[in-house]
Amino acid sequence: MNNISANTSFIGKSVIYMPSCHSTNDALNKYASKKLAEGTVLVTTEQTKGRGQRGNTWECEQNANITLSVFLRPSFLEARHQFHLNVAISLAVYDTISSIVPRGTKIKWPNDILINQKKVCGILIENFIIGKNIDHTIVGIGLNINQKAFKGNFPATSLFMELNKKFQIRIVTESLLEHIEDRYLQLKNKGYAALRKEYYTHLFWYQEIGSFEEYKKDGTSIQFQGQILGVDENGCLSIAKDDKKIKNYAFKEVKHLY
Ligand code: BTN
Repeated sequence: MNNISANTSFIGKSVIYMPSCHSTNDALNKYASKKLAEGTVLVTTEQTKGRGQRGNTWECEQNANITLSVFLRPSFLEARHQFHLNVAISLAVYDTISSIVPRGTKIKWPNDILINQKKVCGILIENFIIGKNIDHTIVGIGLNINQKAFKGNFPATSLFMELNKKFQIRIVTESLLEHIEDRYLQLKNKGYAALRKEYYTHLFWYQEIGSFEEYKKDGTSIQFQGQILGVDENGCLSIAKDDKKIKNYAFKEVKHLY
């Protein structure tokens, strides 16, 4: 894939194609010290050491999926408001996938995309902060397109597995970049409230009762039932627990159980 031509003004106008790399996030960040244009995208067809959240690896068959990273300079965003970027990017990926699979597509906090409770896309957003502001951000996206099976220990899917149809990776990539630009501009124009409202509309288990695992500081964990109330300013998940107490959880402190 070396002819991406998205209908955008800056996202994907400059594309670095790497036939193979360890991680597109790491490869793109090596260019970040140079004068990299905002919106530069690095794509690969073979990622050998893809990184996920919580220090996990990202499984990805060669030539079957989207593996790319986007370089952004959200200097308009204070570091303490960085979760707004997760919201905008999650919605951009949601827009892309739901235009292909309109039913059953959900955003799982903080930014996994599920189809019928199976993970179809993982997002790894890395913010590089100087002082109070974000200097630059690498947004890494792994979107499963034509892969037919997954070995990992969580339920995963691809567009092919959902619709029994092969997709052109270039076409879906172009759509993804267009949606990223739209949502990023919405964020830049301070559309925080509208973005959050839509994020909640598509949020998995929003205002529903679900099962969770809480990780305690002493290394133990407990399971509980709770209702997701929303996400606070720091990006923590707010859950009303079965004892009616409300607790806000950082990413490493809680996991959905399903
Ligand atoms: C997760 O859900 O754990 C996040 C997975 C992110 C995977 C993508 S693939 C492209 C980019 N490069 C990486 O090394 N990781 C991200």
